[in-house]
Amino acid sequence: MKIIHSIQELRKELYMRRFDKERISFVPTMGNLHEGHISLIHKAAEKGDCVVASIFVNPLQFSANEDLESYPRTPEEDEAQLIATGCVDFLFRPRVEEVYPVGQENHTVVEVPNISDVYCGASRPGHFRGVATVVCKLLNIVQPDFAVFGRKDYQQLMVIEKMVEDLCLPVKIIGAETARADDGLALSSRNGYLTEEERATASNLYKALTEAKDAILEGQADFKGIETRANQFLEQAGFKPDYFDICNGKTLEPALRSDQELVILAAAHLGKARLIDNFVVSLSSKKEDS
Ligand code: PAJ
Repeated sequence: MKIIHSIQELRKELYMRRFDKERISFVPTMGNLHEGHISLIHKAAEKGDCVVASIFVNPLQFSANEDLESYPRTPEEDEAQLIATGCVDFLFRPRVEEVYPVGQENHTVVEVPNISDVYCGASRPGHFRGVATVVCKLLNIVQPDFAVFGRKDYQQLMVIEKMVEDLCLPVKIIGAETARADDGLALSSRNGYLTEEERATASNLYKALTEAKDAILEGQADFKGIETRANQFLEQAGFKPDYFDICNGKTLEPALRSDQELVILAAAHLGKARLIDNFVVSLSSKKEDS
């Protein structure tokens, strides 16, 4: 695995790979890697001949009161984990000045309308502008055939899919399953903010999603009632729920009783961590995915 810091050098390397008819797969991350990230790397390796991972803690997607400074940075451990997969060809780890040479204030941005303003976008104004902008840049730098993103960040994946479609970016976006701990908690770099006691409580988010999914699959159609019960359950467990919403899986509008493909989106604060998760619920096949 070759570690590359400059756009120019990465482009030179990838030009050679493309010349050799290799298909390029790309996995962008912010580092502090866990099994969830590593599962994306394996998915990328299934798709392409040459795998590029990136680690860049993107300041543009953090607002002033968020955890940019304290976001966990573990470069040596990340490198070791990527090497251990045996399938990463290049790790792109640019400095902030390489990605934003004109500064963040004066930089062109990518705005994906509407879907960026709800749920996580409502709680974190400007977040998805920062995500779309950096992902657009990274896709233009790497020019991959495939780019893999986790379904754990369901709304992020939808924002990226819409950006790629609207801007005709020549890349296939692949969604990957959510990797979970044994108790169901979705793996996340931010789980590290939890105390031991909070970590024991954290799986209640998974439990709330499971109960809501079961209620929907049993035929309960009072979605508002299900959401209220989930919020109460989370509050009692010590969370400060941000949202817990049953949505149309394609539009993210509040779900109608006639909708067949649903997604339950949830975000809740627990101690210093803001945890997010979701379950996809398909009423057409009565099968669920998470
Ligand atoms: P980060 O949080 O590091 O996540 C990188 C990728 O890993 C994202 O596609 C995310 O959805 C996926 N991921 C995280 N936890 C996962 C889990 N438990 N199972 C499966 N996949 C998981 O998301 C970002 O970084 C950034 O916003 C980024 C897209 C890199 C843009 O800066």
